Amino acid sequence: MAEKILEVKNLHVNFKTYAGQVKAIRNVSFDLDKGQTIAIVGESGSGKSVTTKTLMGLNASNAEIPEGQLLYKGKDLLKNTEVEWQKLRGNEISMIFQDPMTSLDPTMQIGKQIAEPLIKHKGMKKKEALARALELMKQVGIPDAEKHIKDYPHQWSGGMRQRAVIAIALAGDPEILIADEPTTALDVTIQAQIMHMMSELQQRIESSIIFITHDLGVVAGFADKVAVMYAGEIVEYGTVEEIFYNPQHPYTWGLLDSMPMVDSDADRLVSIPGTPPDLLNPPKGDAFAARNKYALDIDFEEEPPYFEVSPTHYAKTWLLDSRAPKVEPSDKIKARWERWSQMLKGEAE
Ligand SMILES: Nc1ncnc2c1ncn2[C@@H]1O[C@H](COP(=O)(O)OP(=O)(O)OP(=O)(O)O)[C@@H](O)[C@H]1O
Ligand SMILES: [Mg+2]
Repeated sequence: MAEKILEVKNLHVNFKTYAGQVKAIRNVSFDLDKGQTIAIVGESGSGKSVTTKTLMGLNASNAEIPEGQLLYKGKDLLKNTEVEWQKLRGNEISMIFQDPMTSLDPTMQIGKQIAEPLIKHKGMKKKEALARALELMKQVGIPDAEKHIKDYPHQWSGGMRQRAVIAIALAGDPEILIADEPTTALDVTIQAQIMHMMSELQQRIESSIIFITHDLGVVAGFADKVAVMYAGEIVEYGTVEEIFYNPQHPYTWGLLDSMPMVDSDADRLVSIPGTPPDLLNPPKGDAFAARNKYALDIDFEEEPPYFEVSPTHYAKTWLLDSRAPKVEPSDKIKARWERWSQMLKGEAE
């Protein structure tokens, strides 16, 4: 059986603010096997970054964790002392942050920044660490790495800087690599290059990966499992195949609907109508009800439980209750399935 590296169980995170308590993460559970990749997908504000910052012990000082467990190799990280967190960060678990600019030190040579975790966590001597930094620079596709190892961040383009940030995250040879929207700050062509590089890396390294994105489109070829987040909760959780070919939650349908179709007239990015609820006062019932065109009366009254679709697939929607009327995903999603199956057939021929 695969080794479980991480089990997040019933995690709740609140933030104390002047306006009241923001219930940012509510009852989040997921797990990760060694070497596996999980994608966390959801709109802005759904709680993706807070979930992963909690895993690094890096939440803002107004955060409270009233409930939950973060079992890393069976040990609950929420019981960590600050010293234990420092040992873990950049070593056992490392994170590529959303904004590459803030994660590089403008006053320090890039090669030294990559070598630093090697000296700090792996006990390497400076020379050995710099040699390894050079290897890492090559691994993340920095051209003429030898020539550029002494460069400073401002001498590099955004895409190259993001590669440097990825090299730093890899330097400690982490068990878990968290990538928080590693490409959003970059333009589209560079985004594709970085994703391509990350897919190649994924084949080579043994780390488990938590990959955060608001775009289901980049998830298909990359992740094993998908957690769809909405308003601080995981509303659907399954293997990539289950989420793409058998999605059950109307919010997941909305995300699939909003993926642009390549070479189609409908190549517009459509977003799901409406806005997420206020997490200071989460609504009664299902948090997605107000935006759900299939909402039932009960959605406005009672929170749905997780319904099991398969042993690896859960969704939190009353539509899965045996008493609910049968509704199906949109024609657009069905057209997409048709297209994917044709593409697969084309590949097989
Ligand atoms: N320090 C804080 N104090 C109060 N609220 C916070 C704090 N940090 C995060 N939040 C709130 O927690 C919720 C989840 O935020 P989070 O940053 O995890 O969203 P996200 O899914 O990563 O969004 P994005 O795609 O924009 O990065 C948001 O409503 C946010 O406003
Ligand atoms: Mg975020």
